[in-house]
Amino acid sequence: MSTRAKGGNARGPGRRPGPAITRVRPGRPTDAAALAQLGARTFRESYGEHTPAEDLDAYIAENYNAPAQAAELSAPDRAVFVAERGGVPIGFALLGEGEPVPAGVPGQGPAVQLERIYVLQAAQRTGAGTALLRACLREARRRGAHTLWLTAWSENHKALSFYRRHGFLRVGTHPFRLGSLVFLDPVLARSIEAPNG
Ligand SMILES: CC(C)(COP(=O)(O)OP(=O)(O)OC[C@H]1O[C@@H](n2cnc3c(N)ncnc32)[C@H](O)[C@@H]1OP(=O)(O)O)[C@@H](O)C(=O)NCCC(=O)NCCS
Repeated sequence: MSTRAKGGNARGPGRRPGPAITRVRPGRPTDAAALAQLGARTFRESYGEHTPAEDLDAYIAENYNAPAQAAELSAPDRAVFVAERGGVPIGFALLGEGEPVPAGVPGQGPAVQLERIYVLQAAQRTGAGTALLRACLREARRRGAHTLWLTAWSENHKALSFYRRHGFLRVGTHPFRLGSLVFLDPVLARSIEAPNG
């Protein structure tokens, strides 16, 4: 399965022009090394300014190496999607069912977590994140889930705006450990059937 989304028709302040087509496809075992690189780069771009270098490096070393990515790509309770432009990966998303669902996440029936969604800074705000999120919503629906939930850093206004735009509501908080730091991250959730999906 792969999906296409139009980018490049960006308008208004802060909008970036971009190439015409973003293609989103499921991750493949052969993506492990590329995802390790892309993950490290997007994580640094997103949190480098706000995180002590040793905490950032430790998190990246643990999570964004080829074996860790290969394990995520092959885990039956997870799903990885890759966004590409011109055959070049520019973003990825990771869905998971393994984490305990935090208190406050509404809905009857199973809930799936959006564990990660990252787009390279240079490609942001041209629809790639939306295309990845839509692929995740379709996959979560296919797995019979009723709710998609996630945690986000409370100072990540870009991401919080993105999630708000896609119908997520704040339903609680959850601790996130990054090296020596512990953040009380907002928990956001939305119904899988809600519009804008
Ligand atoms: C959050 C993220 C995945 C969104 O992807 P994207 O490709 O930029 O998003 P889209 O172009 O599909 O959607 C654009 C919407 O996202 C939000 N957004 C994206 N970039 C933004 C920015 N620089 N400032 C404010 N809002 C922004 C807005 O709601 C925007 O809608 P608008 O342009 O009408 O205001 C992307 O910004 C990203 O990778 N951020 C860094 C990593 C991250 O924070 N991941 C989430 C961790 S919880």
